[in-house]
Amino acid sequence: MAKLKAIYVCSNCGIQYGKWSGSCADCGEWNTLVEDVIDVSVQKKQESQIKRNAQITVRKLSDLDGARMIRVETGIKEFDRVLGGGMVPGSLVLLAGEPGIGKSTLMLQVLAELSQLKSILYVAGEESVEQIGLRSDRLSHKLDNVDFLMETDLDTILGYLAENKPDLIVVDSVSVIYSESLGSFAGSIPQVRAVTEGFMQYAKQSQTPVLLVGHVTKDGSIAGPKVMEHLVDVVLHLEGDRYEEIRLLRALKNRFGSTQEVGVFQMDSEGLQAVESPGQKLLKERTGNVIGSALTVTIDGRRPFVLEVQALVSKSYFGYPKRSATGFDLNRLHMLIAVLEKYHGLKLGEQDVFVNVVGGIKIKEPGCDLAIMEAIKSSFKKEPLDGQQVFIGEVGLDGKVRDPYFKEIRLKEVG
Ligand code: TYD
Ligand code: MG
Repeated sequence: MAKLKAIYVCSNCGIQYGKWSGSCADCGEWNTLVEDVIDVSVQKKQESQIKRNAQITVRKLSDLDGARMIRVETGIKEFDRVLGGGMVPGSLVLLAGEPGIGKSTLMLQVLAELSQLKSILYVAGEESVEQIGLRSDRLSHKLDNVDFLMETDLDTILGYLAENKPDLIVVDSVSVIYSESLGSFAGSIPQVRAVTEGFMQYAKQSQTPVLLVGHVTKDGSIAGPKVMEHLVDVVLHLEGDRYEEIRLLRALKNRFGSTQEVGVFQMDSEGLQAVESPGQKLLKERTGNVIGSALTVTIDGRRPFVLEVQALVSKSYFGYPKRSATGFDLNRLHMLIAVLEKYHGLKLGEQDVFVNVVGGIKIKEPGCDLAIMEAIKSSFKKEPLDGQQVFIGEVGLDGKVRDPYFKEIRLKEVG
């Protein structure tokens, strides 16, 4: 007979506890422990029953014939690139991102390119088929091979899959699917885990690729416990500023490829468009010299991005001058200001300094230090910078400028 026991699972890191407490002892987050129920009798049985003479087969890699895995290429190059060259049969891919960032748009665009597959199942839990139809009509998507299923019950969906065996499955989104047998509400941790496990088993058994769409919570982590990230083969993250056009697709985890690749898209009225060389337009269109604005090249993953950084230096009317950075690390800005004071003689002690990286992209590496410093200097001295000049270089505490990593890639990007 099932022997149920209540446990508490941290929704941030997935660690289990026997008792509830206000904060997780492992990751330190507050208010993240949620109740879950496990069947202790099953666990005990598993421990005591080692199967000694079971009929199993072990294999050598050399036994596999040449055709190991044929990836399904989607035709959307930026998407395939991040996956490591297309979808692997039997893989479970999680596409996560904030609401409204373009996950459903991307999924439908990918499906529209997959005319080589006979049947695709799109489990629509969030939008109605009519809504999806309106959007795909507007974007002229051909989705003749896609069957839409409006269903949120996990067991019904798995039953449908067992009968109909589609070539590819998209679930939009995991947090609305639930299993009645669990009793907790959709989107809760036990539910999200059960749903992920259900689709994982199906993907592995049937060798069908499954794409799960998931949400990201306010602090940027994927809703649901870490266990979801452990279960899936690939975690893709679609990010960007909702008010800017650029969307970056990156792999946070990839069992079949590198996590260094970044896909770049632009959201416009025609959906998401792939961007081959981000920032090239900026380089071409920029004419004339500007005060407080410098061009630079940053690296994300292995991809170069041409960017404009702006600085505004203005007299401070408060005792403590304000420093503010958008798209750049504030501590690093403080350091660059100190270098400008000490080695370049700029008196910034009574000046407010604002730095802004244009276009919604964040600079997360030191290769753009020089550009930021030049922009600040230019604004302070009211001397324009050459509009065609691109600044790259890392600045150290000694005030010296060093070559940034991937210098060659950056230089190649600006020709
Ligand atoms: P959506 O894919 O529904 O986001 P998600 O599934 O991640 O919640 O995209 C929603 C936003 O994208 C919506 O606010 C409008 C914008 N959008 C465009 O700008 N152009 C388009 O062609 C489409 C389809 C959406
Ligand atoms: Mg959506």
